[in-house]
Amino acid sequence: MKMWSKPVGQDDMTMLRDVSDEAVAENLKHRLNAGIIYTYIGRVLIAVNPYKALDIYGADTLEVYCKDGSKVDELECEMRGITVPLHRDRVSRCSTAKLPAFEPHTKYLENLNTHKGPKPPHIYGLTTDMYHNMMIEKENQCVIISGESGAGKTTSARHILSCINKVSGRGSDRIQHIKDIIAQSQVVLEAFGNAKTIRNSNSSRFGKYLEIQFNQNGQPNGGKIYKFWLEKYRVTHLTQGERNFHVFYQLLSGCTSKEKGQYGLQGNAENFFYLNQSEVYTTDNKDDKNDFLATRTALDVIGVDTAKQQIIFKVLSAILTLGNIEFKETENVACPTKQNLLESLSQILGINRESLEEKLVSVFVETRRGGRVEITKKTNNKCQAVAARDTLSKALYSHLFDYLVKVINDALKKDNDYLSIGILDIYGFESFKENSFEQFAINYVDEKLQQVFVELTFTIEQKRREIVGSNKAHQELLQVHHDYFTVKHFAGSVDYEFGGFRERNKDELSNDLISLMQSSENSFVRDLFPETVYGVGEGGHKTNTGSAKIKFQTNGVIGKIMACSPHYVRCIKTSEQKTPLAWNQQRYTTYIYLIERFGMWYPWVFLRVVPYFDEPIRYLGLKESIVIRKTGFAIRRNFDCILRRFGIIAPETKHGWSGDRAEACRFILKAAGFDSGKWIIGKTKLFLKEPD
Ligand SMILES: Nc1ncnc2c1ncn2[C@@H]1O[C@H](COP(=O)(O)OP(=O)(O)O)[C@@H](O)[C@H]1O
Ligand SMILES: [Mg+2]
Repeated sequence: MKMWSKPVGQDDMTMLRDVSDEAVAENLKHRLNAGIIYTYIGRVLIAVNPYKALDIYGADTLEVYCKDGSKVDELECEMRGITVPLHRDRVSRCSTAKLPAFEPHTKYLENLNTHKGPKPPHIYGLTTDMYHNMMIEKENQCVIISGESGAGKTTSARHILSCINKVSGRGSDRIQHIKDIIAQSQVVLEAFGNAKTIRNSNSSRFGKYLEIQFNQNGQPNGGKIYKFWLEKYRVTHLTQGERNFHVFYQLLSGCTSKEKGQYGLQGNAENFFYLNQSEVYTTDNKDDKNDFLATRTALDVIGVDTAKQQIIFKVLSAILTLGNIEFKETENVACPTKQNLLESLSQILGINRESLEEKLVSVFVETRRGGRVEITKKTNNKCQAVAARDTLSKALYSHLFDYLVKVINDALKKDNDYLSIGILDIYGFESFKENSFEQFAINYVDEKLQQVFVELTFTIEQKRREIVGSNKAHQELLQVHHDYFTVKHFAGSVDYEFGGFRERNKDELSNDLISLMQSSENSFVRDLFPETVYGVGEGGHKTNTGSAKIKFQTNGVIGKIMACSPHYVRCIKTSEQKTPLAWNQQRYTTYIYLIERFGMWYPWVFLRVVPYFDEPIRYLGLKESIVIRKTGFAIRRNFDCILRRFGIIAPETKHGWSGDRAEACRFILKAAGFDSGKWIIGKTKLFLKEPD
């Protein structure tokens, strides 16, 4: 375990005397130089990506944090001097014990084994706090992990999972099995949903909200994965320097030649158009061959048996084969050139060869004449045939991904809901030289979640100010130019090209192609396409655009998050070059520039106004967070929770209370000697200021 016995800077930045941008950045930089990547702002955990394996995640560290949480609960800090039971196991033993003085920045890991004071900031600390909160307050919890691509979100989610695994203790075989499924499901989703991008060699190309459900003893006994839109465009089109989804390379380097023959895979990555466009076949720190073994084991654990795995690999092989089908064009009519590929495809997918060819080179269109609907067959030109081919490949892949999510969810399903912890790991803000629908979708989700952060962090008073600020800013948020439009996201301005934007959004698989897949002899392939095919004149109007799906999925998850007690991990990437333990001066300077330019406007700036600068820097508004933690009413608890935990201190409530809960809170606050400026009574919640 890494021990740091001397304090390095402030481990909770709400304690910074000088809340300036320089001080914030200096503090993080200073700590990063000492190998300390975690820092709190109240209950928000800042995680700086060290780009280096640090010895801070060992079993011994886990053990220590899991013993009884990490830092003194903020509510208790606020109520210090008052009798407060904190952790589950302490409740009965020392319910009359006084809390230790709150000194978050003076004691470090030396305290870890003594429980005297708060432990240093750590992702395990946040996790154990979250877990204990859930157990004590009987409230669902969630953690929102944010930060730009490559900042460390998925890594943080992984550490949170392993900590939950540990803190929830050993359970029955069923509990262990659920834990295994949760852990292994991440391996499967990473293989099928992650890819190398120029920002991150293991970038998640889908968003996920993983909900872990617990029984009354606090042991995981179920769960659910909510998936956000997968960037399926990557299946057929690669940007320079990037790779397709990991699983393709795993398959090609992990299969024996016999297996390749079985799956109809002919050749290596270099031989497939969907993989060779970018000429990047390997990625740092990844061994595709070994990863393939891990993926197979993980598939076993989530309940995909060997026979099903073989079909999955065949579908992957079919996608790669499809990509190699080329067309020539005569008088505007496309014709496939490699008939042998069509033959092998039809075998792999269990579909009729002639039908497959027909669906690629022609399309049935409905036309209305008078009151009648007529179906006519239209031939595709080369470009349209390629588009049909690619649409089918993308649909096969995304349906396969959905199938895997469903398998995981079926394996984690249980009848009753008790308590849960949700972990939100999304893509993170992206801005490239050229941006299209994919970046727009990713940045939309990022922006929506920023709004959730705002919604859950700011008080009514601050929101009122936001409205004033946002009115001003809205007019400037969107600018339409000749062949592109600019959106000023909270994290930076992005130019989106119009070219191809609509097509990529359309995301529609024609009825013809759906029917073709549903005609497969292979029940697995048939089941991958459960869509309804509409008959003539039935309309079959689909509002199934990519953007409609993203909106729907995002709103669904936001609804879940809003009903939980939220925690935050804000990940920071300090080095574009992935240099270990480096603080990139240019990024740092831009960040300071931003704060200097808009800092005086807080919190409007943080909420809506978008910075103007060249580099699309993704800032997190840390200084504003600190100011808000200091001046705003950042701690919020339901009346019931206050009454249950602190009712004992007020004479009026200590023997029970059945009247107005807000009234009870007033008595408790009075008994605790609170100044009137330090709290606000809301509709259902009490809002408190962070301790000075
Ligand atoms: N806590 C950490 N310790 C060491 N390396 C890290 C840590 N967090 C992130 N990294 C490095 O950064 C890379 C990108 O992190 P990742 O979690 O995939 O980013 P994101 O999900 O935000 O796009 C990881 O593959 C790893 O190399
Ligand atoms: Mg990620």
